[in-house]
Amino acid sequence: MPNPQITKPITTIVQHIREKERSFPGATGDLSWILSGIALATRIIQSYVRRAGIADVLGEVGTENVQGEMVQKLDLVANETILRCLGYRDIVGIMVSEEDDEPTIVKSPGGAGKYIVLFDPLDGSSNIDVNVSIGTIFSVLSCRDDVDESRGALPHCLQRGVEQVAAGYVVYGSSTVMAYTTGNGVHMFTLDPLIGAFVLHTDDIQMPNVGRMYSVNEAYYDSFPEGVREYLTWAKSSEGGGYGLRYIGSLVADFHRTLLKGGVFLYPPTAKNPSGKLRLLYEANPLAFIAEQAGGAATDFKERILDKQPDALHARTPLLMGSQSEVDRVMSFMT
Ligand code: AHG
Ligand code: MN
Ligand code: MN
Repeated sequence: MPNPQITKPITTIVQHIREKERSFPGATGDLSWILSGIALATRIIQSYVRRAGIADVLGEVGTENVQGEMVQKLDLVANETILRCLGYRDIVGIMVSEEDDEPTIVKSPGGAGKYIVLFDPLDGSSNIDVNVSIGTIFSVLSCRDDVDESRGALPHCLQRGVEQVAAGYVVYGSSTVMAYTTGNGVHMFTLDPLIGAFVLHTDDIQMPNVGRMYSVNEAYYDSFPEGVREYLTWAKSSEGGGYGLRYIGSLVADFHRTLLKGGVFLYPPTAKNPSGKLRLLYEANPLAFIAEQAGGAATDFKERILDKQPDALHARTPLLMGSQSEVDRVMSFMT
């Protein structure tokens, strides 16, 4: 009787993307090189997350970032780790981080630096000190070949979400899980601490088309658009059919649950954030790419997230994301 442990192959991220790339003539192995850099960085980050209380990475640094938010020690550790792990990968030209005002230009975009990696190094910072799931979100674009070098990095970075060549996230939860897409489905891995590698467990994930779960911070209810308030009233009514509410406050964790269980996540415009709180380039775009690749949808309550033309590096957007039928239902309330 063969040992079940050896009948199931151990597929790591690099193997997986290499296998996927093989079905694409001319694939260069570039994306596997970038993804392996992200896998290395997030393995280092999770080692700090797991020891946060004793590794002196809890609490605030004492400075504010470009977002006007107090920087947490772990934000900086995560940011520096990713910059270090990707900065020496010769095909990475530009890096854009939530924590840095300007892009980090590693190589001239026109030359060897073919790719741009945009990331939220540590998502859910308000949950770090209370041991709630947090994560890292990343997006990969190709540098444009129609931009004059004299215009600097910005035109390369301000591309619509449909231009992404890869996207993914890591959630540091009860286990450390990574999901990525290169436009051929969404694939999910769990970090096996015994071997220090992310191991494939689900290929081509499909988001359930229905989910009686909504995820929103209802503290801002009074300043939500009228259509959102009407939807929430419906969802809670007997006519609505018994929705549940789950809100973790870490986008990456609320998204991960929605990807696996279905439902809908809402971060509408509020009085405090009239353009929405979440950032388009390195939060909404990568997760919208994954949502659509898994059969879900993502809008800003008006248009498709992936079609939005960014007007600034840290542009914010309202975000409605989840099961196609649940997103459609919310949109039906938006006049
Ligand atoms: P970050 O920690 O990267 O700044 O992101 C926090 C975001 C996101 O993770 C979450 O969905 C949202 O902030 C929660 O905002 P509220 O506390 O306003 O609900
Ligand atoms: Mn974030
Ligand atoms: Mn962050």
